[in-house]
Parts: sequence; structure tokens; C-alpha cells
Amino acid sequence: VDPAQNVGYGKIILLGEHSVVYGYRAIAAPINLAIRAEVTRPAAVAGARPDAAAKSELVISGWDSDPAAHNPDGAALAERVATLIAARLGVADTPVRVEVFPELPRASGLGASAALAVSVIRALVHSFGLSLSEEEISQLAFECEQLVHGTPSGIDNTVATFGQTILFRKTDAGNEIEELDIPVPIPVVVGLTGVRSLTADTVGRVHAGWEKNPQHYEAIFSEIDGLVGTGVEALRRGDLPALGEVMNLNHGLLNALQVSSPELEALVDLARRSGALGAKLTGGGGGGAMIAIAEPGRIHSVANTLDVAGYQTYLTEIRTSPNGRV
Ligand code: MEV
Repeated sequence: VDPAQNVGYGKIILLGEHSVVYGYRAIAAPINLAIRAEVTRPAAVAGARPDAAAKSELVISGWDSDPAAHNPDGAALAERVATLIAARLGVADTPVRVEVFPELPRASGLGASAALAVSVIRALVHSFGLSLSEEEISQLAFECEQLVHGTPSGIDNTVATFGQTILFRKTDAGNEIEELDIPVPIPVVVGLTGVRSLTADTVGRVHAGWEKNPQHYEAIFSEIDGLVGTGVEALRRGDLPALGEVMNLNHGLLNALQVSSPELEALVDLARRSGALGAKLTGGGGGGAMIAIAEPGRIHSVANTLDVAGYQTYLTEIRTSPNGRV
């Protein structure tokens, strides 16, 4: 990563969301949408005397600011995240202006909250000439994710920081992270349902179900873990039909966990009918985003069908690292 970019990457979860929170494996990949941040320190720039009354300011261009507490991915929570970061970095006493430029939609399952945290950490680290390892950046972003989601697995902050396609497993002894080499880039359409959904809510829903029926839930998680294993092999072979098949099965099991929605089902169905080899919800679900893969010659027509039906779509690729950014 070029540190000067102050970037946190967006991500898709290819296989294994939700079960990853319970210690099972998942595959995640960065996408070619990111969040960038810039820090200006007015006093330092202007050479003026520091103003004791000056306050730090967080400006997010493009996201509608929604200070309502029920909207934790909005501006209010972003401010709490920025405050936590400044405190942890020991720079809370110096007023700064942090400007955030998101390419990612928020509350859509594409890792915007982790990407925002990473971008703000990087921007403050550079502005204050601090030195943090990539692991420390990811760990601090994980703390921010705990503020936002409660019980994150750690997969989002890892991809937001390192920008690599990974096989991830959370263990008591720490995270097992394996970088995956992708021999042939795999084209992906991301489709937005247009319904915002908070990962904290769907993670909470799964947790409530797991508490009531632990053995049934663990059986589903373990089944998903098996799909992740098959998916890794398919990715390594560049076998798109096999990968598509496990994505379809994973979506069915996510539906069993009740984190799909009518809007997601409609998108998945449309993507499959228009030639996708595999389609599933990605991230927290309950709304948010769907991903579909297709043969390179087919991917534009899948995206086009979704566009014509009125969905916002993005084209991206699963590769070892994202387009030209790393
Ligand atoms: C969110 O991108 C993925 C979830 O598995 C939550 C997490 O892993 O923290 C739903």
C-alpha cells in the first residue's frame, strides 16, 4: 500500500460471513472502491498561535450526515470512531480537520466502517509523523469496529488495511490469515438492494438464534465452513462454475440463518437468471449488497440486466490485490 494515499479498502465477503464470527473460515477480497482521508492542522499550516478553544472537525463528503443515534454508520458514529482513534494515537489535544472521501456506500455490507477507520488512522499517523505497523493499524481499526458492531470477527479491518484477498479464521490464540493467490482475476458484479442494513443488527439476530438452537446453528456454520474449503480450491484452480456453485449454496444457508431479505432474494434471482454462475448476499445481509460472478464474457450482460432493473451496480474483480492500488 502506498501509505501516502491514506486509504482503507472496501471489501466483499466471497464465502463465510456470519459463521466467521463463531470461529469458522471465510474468504474476503478487497474491491476497487475505497475511502481516503486527509488531515489538516490549521494552526500548523497558518503558523498562527494554537487556539485553545479550537475543536477537531470531521467532514465526510458525500454521505448524508445523520446524527440520529439509531443510525450508527452515520456521521455521529464516524465522529466517535475518529475521537477514539485520536485518543489512541495520543493526538486528541491537537485540533485537526479530518476530511473523508468515500467511494463506498455506507451500511451496505461493503466494509465502509472499517475502511473509514483505516483511512482516518493512516491520515492522522502521517499528519503527526507517527509510526504504526500495518498490524497496529488493523488492530486499532478492529477496536473501532467493536465500537460500531459490538462483536466483529476482524475480517473487515484486515482487508481494509492490507487490501489482499484472504482466507480468515478467528481463533482464541489470534487470527489465522492466509493470503490467497488468485491465478486468474474473477469478475464480480456488486448489486445494491438500496436498503441500508446495519451489520450489528444481523449479527445480533444470528446470535439470538444461535443461543436458542446452538446445535442447529453450529451445523449450518460447519456446513458453510466446508463450502469455504471447496471455494478456496476452486479459486486456486480458477474454476468459476465450481466457485459459483458454492456461492449459491452459501446463500441458501445464509437464508436459513434469516439474514437474507426479499430485496436480496430478488437481486440474487435476477443475477442467476441473467447468466451469473453464482450469486449471494455479501457482508451482514438484511439488505445491503449482493455479489455475483460470471464468465468474463458474460459479466457485463449480468451487470446490465441489474442496471436496467434499476439497481446500482459496481464491477470489480477478485484478484490477489486490487486494481493498481497495491
Ligand atoms: C461483515 O462484513 C461480516 C460479518 O461476518 C460480521 C463480521 O465478520 O464481523 C457479518
